[in-house]
Amino acid sequence: MSAEIIDGKKIAEEIRREVKEETERLKATYGIAPGLAFVLVGDNPASQVYVRMKGKACEEIGFYSVTERMPAETLEAELLRKVDEFNRDPRVHGVLVQLPLPKQINEARVIESVDPRKDVDGFHPTNVGKLVIGVDTMRPCTPAGIQELLIRSGNDPSGKHVVVVGRSNIVGKPIVNILLQKQSGANAVVTIAHTGARDLTVYTKMADILIAAIGKPEIITGAMLKEGAVVIDVGTNRVDDPSAKNGYRIVGDVHYASASVVAKAITPVPGGVGPMTITMLLKNTLQAAKASIQP
Ligand code: GUN
Repeated sequence: MSAEIIDGKKIAEEIRREVKEETERLKATYGIAPGLAFVLVGDNPASQVYVRMKGKACEEIGFYSVTERMPAETLEAELLRKVDEFNRDPRVHGVLVQLPLPKQINEARVIESVDPRKDVDGFHPTNVGKLVIGVDTMRPCTPAGIQELLIRSGNDPSGKHVVVVGRSNIVGKPIVNILLQKQSGANAVVTIAHTGARDLTVYTKMADILIAAIGKPEIITGAMLKEGAVVIDVGTNRVDDPSAKNGYRIVGDVHYASASVVAKAITPVPGGVGPMTITMLLKNTLQAAKASIQP
């Protein structure tokens, strides 16, 4: 039996339609368009692609957006001044500083400089803390997207054992806190495993829902899964492939061919978690714009 494919592209489109409708209502009622400011420092090729994609998504959905490109040698103080400018700009409801940053800049200080009300990445310690204690707040985009994928594909995590492999601040830690919430669409028993485990299979075998966010190509194989598990693959890894036009292909953290014969449902790479991240960024920006309206 081959697993059902969880179609992230389709689910992302469904959410974007909802966000677009609400954006039109916001414009008609209050004359406000959600606004998002991007700051890109340096010339990291992947970051350039991401920021371009995010800007295009804003345009398509009817958001105001502005991108500030700063040179690689930008000083931290200059970046902080730019963030502060966007913090005070009433057209801007979300401020996103694309990571990683050049090494002369302290990432933590920059994250803390974003107004928590405009922190559409959900990375500010205030928002991280609120998530941990269960106060409603802006949630990091990729994990929020994973929760939507699970709910909308009919795989509600409530009461299930979710095993997260990976402990990053962007995915592993926040998805644990999201799925632990005592709420519908969450309420899971969560285990966090990582590459430091003596034997990862001990943990992965226990997962009703496995979330792979390790950043290593195809390290989770079908033999490591429980029969009938739901598999969410967050990985996007480039591997050499001489037969491909550009000499490489993108694979997940999960070995798809072996996993898809054991799993009940699985996200493909690409087309699974990927399309959800930008979609949730749009959703967070809409939320920030709505929250900015004085009652
Ligand atoms: N770099 C890689 N992923 C992200 C993200 O979600 N937000 C920001 N700001 N930078 C990133």
